[in-house]
Amino acid sequence: MYKGKARAYTNIALIKYWGKQDETFILPMNNSLSLTLDAFYTETTVAFSPDFTQDRFTLDGVVQTDAATKKVADFLDLVRKKADCPWYATVESQNFVPTAAGLASSASGLAALAGACSEALDLNLSEQALSRLARRGSGSACRSIYGGFAEWHQGTDETSFATQVPSNGWEEELSMIFILINAQAKEVSSREGMRRTVETSSFYPGWLSATATDLVKMKQAIAEKDFTALGETTEANALKMHGTTLAAEPPFTYWSSESLRAMECVRMLRKKGLACYFTMDAGPNVKVLCQKQEEQTILRELSAHFASEQLVTAHAGKGLAFLPVEESSPIN
Ligand code: DP6
Repeated sequence: MYKGKARAYTNIALIKYWGKQDETFILPMNNSLSLTLDAFYTETTVAFSPDFTQDRFTLDGVVQTDAATKKVADFLDLVRKKADCPWYATVESQNFVPTAAGLASSASGLAALAGACSEALDLNLSEQALSRLARRGSGSACRSIYGGFAEWHQGTDETSFATQVPSNGWEEELSMIFILINAQAKEVSSREGMRRTVETSSFYPGWLSATATDLVKMKQAIAEKDFTALGETTEANALKMHGTTLAAEPPFTYWSSESLRAMECVRMLRKKGLACYFTMDAGPNVKVLCQKQEEQTILRELSAHFASEQLVTAHAGKGLAFLPVEESSPIN
């Protein structure tokens, strides 16, 4: 039996990935840039054995549905091919998230799975090769191989991976406060949402050209440690991404009335002189980017509007870590 274990942290895109050129290889329509965070992560143990008769996937101790297991099994097929190993596998993942408010992350999950597989089968992959592999599981996962800021480059199967964005450690001065909002409406997955947008949204070409400009601004903001530019570009880019969904056919949105209230609250804090900016992904939660020095003041202000359990603070997280497989692990 071959076993491996890895931990990966989630990341939040400041320049969003929204749309694929190639669904099989998961090649994006645009470069994206993210910040890896410490508050949410996944630990995954994988074991390949000639004795297994099928792939098995448990998350937080619960055996997963056929659909979730298929996503993992498809990924395992890629790894099996790479390693020339025909054995089925058992995958045990644990998500470390403060609450179950829709924060399960495919980025940390697939990055941890890529790491655990590489370790189990002794693939000895470089960070770039791990990033390429994680990308095949879920696009955003390729950025979670790195701590701090990471940029995912569009390209071919060979050339599309994430790289570290040099920042002189600036990410250590930043915070991201999550405002957790429960989804009421039925969710459109990010996979389905971006597919529909690329295929039908008349706003999509505008998104692509604007994002190229936003990326240049973002990298300049990081190089110059310019928080205002970082925040303004983050918020504007998220709004543009969400704008594309309104022109899709049929149209949809990830915003709930509570999301709008949270965005309004952030704007109000800015009017009071606090430097904070929001971003949102394929769900109603709002994430507020600010500087550590103002984090407590901003949290205090936000807690006048949201319950304390709705507010979770994160800081910059680390890259992928390989972990020893404990003897007590359920897989042995
Ligand atoms: C809105 O990486 O979850 O969070 O590649 O289809 O698995 P797949 O999608 P996924 O999409 C993330 C979309 C996003 C923006 C981002 O993280 O860049």
